[in-house]
Amino acid sequence: MKNAFRDQVAIVTGAASGIGRALSQELARRGAKVWMTDIDAAAVERSAQQVPRAVSRALDVTNLEAFRALAEEVKRDEGRIDYLFNNAGIAVIGHYHEMKPGDFDRLIDVNFRGVVHGVEAVYSIMRAQGSGHIVNTSSVSGLIPAPGFTAYSATKHAVVGLSRGLRLEAQRFGVKVSAICPGFTDTELVSNADYRGIDGGRAKKSMPFAFDTPEQCAVQALDGVANNVGEIVTARHAKGMVAAHRISPRLLGFVAGLGVKRQSR
Ligand code: NAI
Repeated sequence: MKNAFRDQVAIVTGAASGIGRALSQELARRGAKVWMTDIDAAAVERSAQQVPRAVSRALDVTNLEAFRALAEEVKRDEGRIDYLFNNAGIAVIGHYHEMKPGDFDRLIDVNFRGVVHGVEAVYSIMRAQGSGHIVNTSSVSGLIPAPGFTAYSATKHAVVGLSRGLRLEAQRFGVKVSAICPGFTDTELVSNADYRGIDGGRAKKSMPFAFDTPEQCAVQALDGVANNVGEIVTARHAKGMVAAHRISPRLLGFVAGLGVKRQSR
């Protein structure tokens, strides 16, 4: 099969750590030139030093003008943008009634508006090229509900909704759109998340499955992107959850509820 990434130009947001860093490494391994961006300029520069040919830039995805300027810079320097990985994200985990003022806004700003900004920045460039692939990182939480994940999950459902609609609209311009829906993956998102009324350490230990590594996630994600899969679910446990939800949303909701009762403080 043709390598979909050889000599292609890719932008990755949230590339300083976790899945974004692993996506960048795997993209480079498959022959792409990667523009690694993150709100943490020093950290993304350090990460880019480990990725052949990568360029690093500071980018806060909540800043539309900065996103547009980055896309223009890539277009000017490389002549085109083949892939945008809208990957940056944050987590606030807790039941709705325990969320603090501002939690919802932060989640919406980074996890959803950040993705919209990415689309705003590259879509017209890709339409003019007649090619390109926008890859939005949602989550398994973007496909199924779970108690304690309501706010995070709402932003990730929004990413799936945006990706589904745009995928249908964009194909007549030669532009592809996919959503990556990772299962639980061992990254700093889990340790850095703001937990509201839930003990994050205990919750992680009580999960009845192993987390994927970011590298495992990246390989599955890029295989899906190369095959232009619309919704790419990574990790065996996540595929199981999505299948169970399809068969019986009530049963999955009941089981997920038991897990969260055990984890609550
Ligand atoms: P991570 O915390 O290791 O990496 C996230 C990166 O995003 C960090 O480098 C951070 O500095 C950056 N970031 C945060 N706010 C930003 C902003 N405003 N602008 C630009 N960059 C910003 O987390 P991870 O796990 O690698 O997360 C990547 C994506 O995968 C996120 O969208 C997350 O929601 C999603 N995801 C993660 C899962 C997991 O279990 N780790 C499961 C499902 C989805």
